[in-house]
Amino acid sequence: MKTLGVVGAQWGDEGKGKVVDVLAAQADVVARYSGGNNAGHTLVMDGKKIITHLVPSGCAYPGTACVLGAGMVIDVDVLQDEVAGIKEYGLLGGDELKVSLDAHLIMPYHRALDGLREDSRKGAAKIGTTRRGIGPCYEAKAARRGVKVRDLFYAETLRSRLEGNAAAVDAELLHLGAREGVDVDAIVKAAGAWARWLEPSVCDVGELLDDAITGGKRVLFEGAQGALLDVDHGTYPYVTSTTTTAGGISAGLGIGPTKIRSVWGITKAYTTRVGAGPFPTRAEEDAEKQIRIAGGEFGATTGRPRDCGWLDLPALRFAARVNGLTGLCVTKLDVLAMLPRVQVCRAYRDGVSPGRDGFSRAEPTYETLAGWGDPSLQAQLRVARSLAEIPATVREYLDLIEDDVGVPVTLLGVGPDRTETISLADPF
Ligand code: GDP
Ligand code: IMO
Ligand code: MG
Repeated sequence: MKTLGVVGAQWGDEGKGKVVDVLAAQADVVARYSGGNNAGHTLVMDGKKIITHLVPSGCAYPGTACVLGAGMVIDVDVLQDEVAGIKEYGLLGGDELKVSLDAHLIMPYHRALDGLREDSRKGAAKIGTTRRGIGPCYEAKAARRGVKVRDLFYAETLRSRLEGNAAAVDAELLHLGAREGVDVDAIVKAAGAWARWLEPSVCDVGELLDDAITGGKRVLFEGAQGALLDVDHGTYPYVTSTTTTAGGISAGLGIGPTKIRSVWGITKAYTTRVGAGPFPTRAEEDAEKQIRIAGGEFGATTGRPRDCGWLDLPALRFAARVNGLTGLCVTKLDVLAMLPRVQVCRAYRDGVSPGRDGFSRAEPTYETLAGWGDPSLQAQLRVARSLAEIPATVREYLDLIEDDVGVPVTLLGVGPDRTETISLADPF
């Protein structure tokens, strides 16, 4: 079986887009299993940059199927714009795009609710969502009034489902200051065009994937967000609304868990977070600014400055366990190499453990690493293409991570371009 899950092992933005793009060179199918356009995955090839929000990051390879699974929430207007943008690069010109009939649709009222609720929250109640309608859409799904892709093809079902949603959310929308409630007629009208546009791509994704896996094809499962944003295991309530961890692959794609051969977790060489919630290893102001500038740490979806700090090994060990990681991809080593001083957290004070105690009481203890802060490190790393070319200081850091987390390092990122990668293991 040639399958591999690629998941975020921190709070998102670890470099999943780049890693999936690199690994997809060897894949036949790339499938997203959760989230929606809260994600922003960056691919850089020869200076050309593509940011995918809904389309899997395997889109740069003509003929590679790009699958959007049932566990996703899809804003069709956003998907249309994104596909049009990718087509300008001469990609997605065939029948690569596959969309699950069971994926849920993000509606205009979900976007409105997400933004209005966020604006109405005060202080610690603010989540800092991406305002893309993700939470309200998953909420409707769990409440059994969501609209699925398949509903677009049945006008009566669609209308009655929308009327049910109007009854459920109109009062809240108007209370929060919206000018109108759910505009059923306008959505039914738009839905006709969405259905026509989606029609060539919709399919039974579970069957497609099962056939591919059984037929010996190489299949990559692309995660969105990260382990610590998982609705069950993350820093709740400062999380997204889905299972971001590897357990979500099976549920979100309609394949059995026995079809997932291995799972690689992506981690930056340091840590970032965007949005509210606990972040134990956030650096003090000056160091945070240095990391943000060195790493260009601004959100790929919202442009918000990311909070930045040191690698949090207790959090990474937790992510490795929850995901059952079999490999670790460490990205942005070149960025760490630009910093005058590098710290790492191996334990929280008083034996606080993420699984038992949560993250809000976690106080990091730090070690300062020797050998970093050398201005030549970054240049050496950017051109390194094998482990032997990696400076000893950096290799020691990788050994420390590997020993501490107990998972082998399988891929390194030494720059944003797809070529700035060192592969240490066969993904399939
Ligand atoms: P994702 O959401 O996990 O796909 O990550 P994002 O695309 O939101 O953010 C990662 C950022 O880091 C993007 O700007 C990438 O181009 C960039 N990036 C990824 N890997 C590396 C790396 O190894 N070095 C550097 N310098 N940049 C990287
Ligand atoms: P990728 O796939 C980083 C964060 C938001 C907010 C919380 C809830 O690019 O790694 P939501 O809009 O999902 O209801 O917001 O989750 N968040 C992300 N942070 N990367 C992401 O995706 C994220 N997707 C959601 O900032 O804190
Ligand atoms: Mg991102």
